[in-house]
Amino acid sequence: MNYETLLFEIKEGVAFVTINRPDKLNALNDQVVDELGHAAGRIASEDAIKGAILTGAGPKAFVAGADIADLAKQGPFDGKARALRGQAVLRRLETCGKPVIAAINGFALGGGCELAMACHLRIAADTAKFGQPEVKLGIAPGYGGTQRLPRLVGKGVAVQLILTGEMIDAQEAYRIGLVNRVVPAAQLLAESEKMLRGILAMGPLAVRLALEAVDQGLEMTLEEGLLLEANHFGLLAATKDMKEGLTAFLEKRQAKFEGR
Ligand code: COA
Repeated sequence: MNYETLLFEIKEGVAFVTINRPDKLNALNDQVVDELGHAAGRIASEDAIKGAILTGAGPKAFVAGADIADLAKQGPFDGKARALRGQAVLRRLETCGKPVIAAINGFALGGGCELAMACHLRIAADTAKFGQPEVKLGIAPGYGGTQRLPRLVGKGVAVQLILTGEMIDAQEAYRIGLVNRVVPAAQLLAESEKMLRGILAMGPLAVRLALEAVDQGLEMTLEEGLLLEANHFGLLAATKDMKEGLTAFLEKRQAKFEGR
């Protein structure tokens, strides 16, 4: 697929995915959503890609939401279909098995905040702004906001943000746990890449199974989640990576993981 709304570049194992509609503040129209779905598939399946950084083009916006011009035309059935399509794409990204960092360079509103929440980690520029303003438009979040926001920040704060539609700055997003770090805007990509490359130096199978245990375990009882964790722990004991990691520690050297 040739992307028209995304820039997609692979540099030494890292896929840099940039949503590229700066004149519309990178709003998610149907084409962006389709292309993001394809990009998520590439991240999941291509061996040359070890992790990804998602950002928005231009200085102003990460993503300012679903494309309101598209929403204005929808009826109940295509509205539901659009929500299901968007949810599936974000879920594909969330379950791609490789670490994905959202580098939030500006407005992350509505679908933009939802897209950031589907990434595994969120690093915000100090100029970024967050919100779920859908109720102001007479709609409610449709790309997972009502589900992922309470899981990230707790029900009380999530309900407040969703019902008031208020916009919060990067520091407040950090305070409530919506983002992992806030950095000066000029250093956003470099800091995001640094964090991702740090993760990529770890055992990739361990990273994959840890992500999976957190993702699936949150939907299980504690007993089931603990069993899943123990199964993953046992599975990793059968990998070359575990032998290499433990041996390297004992030999006081850097581990060289192969993902096997
Ligand atoms: N969908 C479609 N187009 C959007 C958009 C969206 N979600 N957000 C911004 N745009 C477009 C604007 O219509 C404008 O296009 P135009 O130049 O052709 O008129 C362009 O992007 C620039 O936006 P503008 O509103 O002029 O910038 P601003 O700096 O004055 O305001 C925002 C920035 C983010 C506060 C404002 O654009 C906004 O409120 N956007 C909608 C946010 C939202 O409700 N998102 C949830 C959607 S479900």
